[in-house]
Amino acid sequence: MTPSLAGKTILITGGTGGIGRAAAIALAAMGARVGVTGRDRTRAEAAAAAIAKESDNPAVDVFVGDLSSQAEVRRLAGEVLEAYPRLDVLLNNVGGFWAHRHVTADGLERTFALNHLAPFLLTNLLLDRLMASTPARVVTVSSAAQALGTIDFDDLMGERKYSGQRAYSASKLANVMFTYELARRLAGTGVTATVFHPGVTDTSFSAEDPARAFAPLVAIMRPFMRSPERGADTAVYLASSPAVEGITGRYFADREVKASSKASHDPEDIARLWKVSAELVGLPIDAPQGGT
Ligand SMILES: NC(=O)c1ccc[n+]([C@@H]2O[C@H](COP(=O)([O-])OP(=O)(O)OC[C@H]3O[C@@H](n4cnc5c(N)ncnc54)[C@H](OP(=O)(O)O)[C@@H]3O)[C@@H](O)[C@H]2O)c1
Repeated sequence: MTPSLAGKTILITGGTGGIGRAAAIALAAMGARVGVTGRDRTRAEAAAAAIAKESDNPAVDVFVGDLSSQAEVRRLAGEVLEAYPRLDVLLNNVGGFWAHRHVTADGLERTFALNHLAPFLLTNLLLDRLMASTPARVVTVSSAAQALGTIDFDDLMGERKYSGQRAYSASKLANVMFTYELARRLAGTGVTATVFHPGVTDTSFSAEDPARAFAPLVAIMRPFMRSPERGADTAVYLASSPAVEGITGRYFADREVKASSKASHDPEDIARLWKVSAELVGLPIDAPQGGT
């Protein structure tokens, strides 16, 4: 049975295209008020209108910001807190791939900044609202690439050595480690944290990379790729299903709990990643404390 999400509010980062847009349509169709984020207001408003039409639910809101910039994450979080008296689900979906090293407005390597630090900061800024809206859920989009990832704490910004694949895999491993630590810190609060691999999905992923490194592979792979709807299926499941109520600190693929890499479970690295991430975004390292 399709769960009813009437009365629920869900924020989806990167809801203007790809997996996020497909998740937005499905969740809005179940009755949720859905907020989507994107970088360009005109594009985001056009996407929101299309999501409202396809889901037959007019309750679709737009929040605009480039999440690679911490100032924009903070402003966007403020606007979300202003607009939403409750927040039931945060779907951290935005992510990208760059074959060559780029630097953000904050002087940080872009893959790590956008794929990991942005959801880390946004989640922390919205956490009080999520905790006031329990039962609430934080769902983060990782990738099977997490299994190839290592976190090089001596070169987090890829200054000494950069490859797109290394940076992407590390960021997706960071998504998993962040979720495990968030779940630990939130134990007993009624806010759960889960993370998942969507499957190889036909979206605009990596299309913005000036190197277009994936373009030849995508051209070959496209017939075998999942539709955005299928890629969004586990996101929708984790955001909405009563079957996962209370389940926290788990990595999923195809709606099932799967094992994530050995590296993702290293308690020292998990704690270190949280600490360094908090320092990089200017948050205290001890928040949140959790309820137990
Ligand atoms: N596609 C796959 O095969 C695949 C596989 C494994 C994991 N994933 C993961 O799935 C997630 C979604 O990817 P997708 O395939 O749906 O990608 P996509 O088609 O490229 O969609 C990306 C979304 O993120 C937004 N976005 C991009 N850069 C942004 C920025 N700097 N600030 C704010 N928003 C930004 C885009 O919005 P605007 O352009 O409107 O700003 C768009 O809505 C990513 O985390 C990715 O790592 C994808």
